[in-house]
Amino acid sequence: MAQLWGGRFTKQTDDEVFAFNESLSFDHRLFSQDIEGSIAHVVMLEKQHIISLEEKDAIVRGLTLIKSEVEEGKLEFTSEYEDVHSFVEARLIEKIGDAGKKMHTGRSRNDQVALDMKLYVREEVLNIDKGLKSLLEVINRIMEENIDTYMPGFTHLQKAQPTTVAHHFGAYFEMFKRDRMRLGSIYERMNYCPLGSGALAGTTYPLDREYVASMLGFEGATNNSMDSVADRDYIIELLSALSTVMMHLSRFSEEIIIWNSNEYRFVELDDAYSTGSSIMPQKKNPDIAELVRGKTGRVYGALVSILTTLKGIPLAYNKDMQEDKEVTFDAIDTVKDCIHLFTGMIDTMKFRSDVMAKSAMKGFTNATDAADYLVKNGMPFRDAHGVIGALVLHCIDEDKSIEDCSIEELKSFSDIFEEDIYEAISLKTCVEKRLTKGAPSSVQMKKIIEMNKEYLKD
Ligand code: ARG
Repeated sequence: MAQLWGGRFTKQTDDEVFAFNESLSFDHRLFSQDIEGSIAHVVMLEKQHIISLEEKDAIVRGLTLIKSEVEEGKLEFTSEYEDVHSFVEARLIEKIGDAGKKMHTGRSRNDQVALDMKLYVREEVLNIDKGLKSLLEVINRIMEENIDTYMPGFTHLQKAQPTTVAHHFGAYFEMFKRDRMRLGSIYERMNYCPLGSGALAGTTYPLDREYVASMLGFEGATNNSMDSVADRDYIIELLSALSTVMMHLSRFSEEIIIWNSNEYRFVELDDAYSTGSSIMPQKKNPDIAELVRGKTGRVYGALVSILTTLKGIPLAYNKDMQEDKEVTFDAIDTVKDCIHLFTGMIDTMKFRSDVMAKSAMKGFTNATDAADYLVKNGMPFRDAHGVIGALVLHCIDEDKSIEDCSIEELKSFSDIFEEDIYEAISLKTCVEKRLTKGAPSSVQMKKIIEMNKEYLKD
């Protein structure tokens, strides 16, 4: 074991203690952020005349070399180091000697790790946002191609009113768009640099924190050094936003699983996105959708884990906070994979428009429109609701739809009915007459799809 501390110790750390305490096995992920932060730090140290130009140059050269050696696989994260920060510093001293010992001047691992995690999360926020954007592009493409692909809309998983695939997918467009807005606001709120906060109380060196912050692309430096090293709010916010992304993906997956079932047959998943059964030759299973739905649990788990870890920690840094990493990394990986695979799955999915339209015509999805017909011809809505209710009961008895009834049959329920009732309750009319903003008529959907395209331009 190679440690950064030891002066005040008379014994080596116990092996099991070291193994329990170490974080290199997972925080090596922060390696390039750690190097980036250290370079900014020493550039600032030199500008402030805290280290010499030669020392700064040697450190920057050493760090750059370590980075390329790791990237080329020449240098490995061997287990004798406690964490990525110790690894980098020890390797630097090995490479450049005494100048390397000055890198950590005016810095603590507490503000260092706070910075590394922020840099990592900030970059991943952008990556996840990019994934969501690609998903939205596919959704909008599907919307555009399915403006008049009729399907039943559901409430309580019971057929309710006719709608279209464009309209149904449009709902998910809004959800993932909000997810992107959430990520955007997290980015803004988190984008302040903690470096220069030291262990907790700042430092006596004349650091230029704003300079470091601007070098690293932050909006500015954080205001309170204790908060800087103790704050993991942005991780909680991220995991909360990612939990919501997963909740949306999971609902969508659930629908696709239902639509892909033998009973519904609304969609057909591409072979490349389905799996078979080892025993039942006829099976083509929606495993990807099921896994996305299943993986939602581990992202929620990450959120609850970090909330619980932080709730009892006194200010400022405590080692508990090392627990922020594995769950966050796992959640980010999971969400990126899920968005990517889900996008491919719906991009290649086929819609059975005939089955969907047929399904929309069964189950009295036009009952509201039949009632509205009576209302338009003078009957109060509550009475119309009663008349159509009785008519539906009659149709259920006879195993048919409203439009299958003869005009005489309809007139026996209300003499308001005329021949134009059939047109008024056709699938096309039911959809096209819904002209309010946000409703499924093609007029509205075309407007929304154009808006979506504009939105996706930047
Ligand atoms: N590995 C530690 C973490 O992830 C780095 C900070 C260590 N700081 C300390 N005071 N022990 O939190």
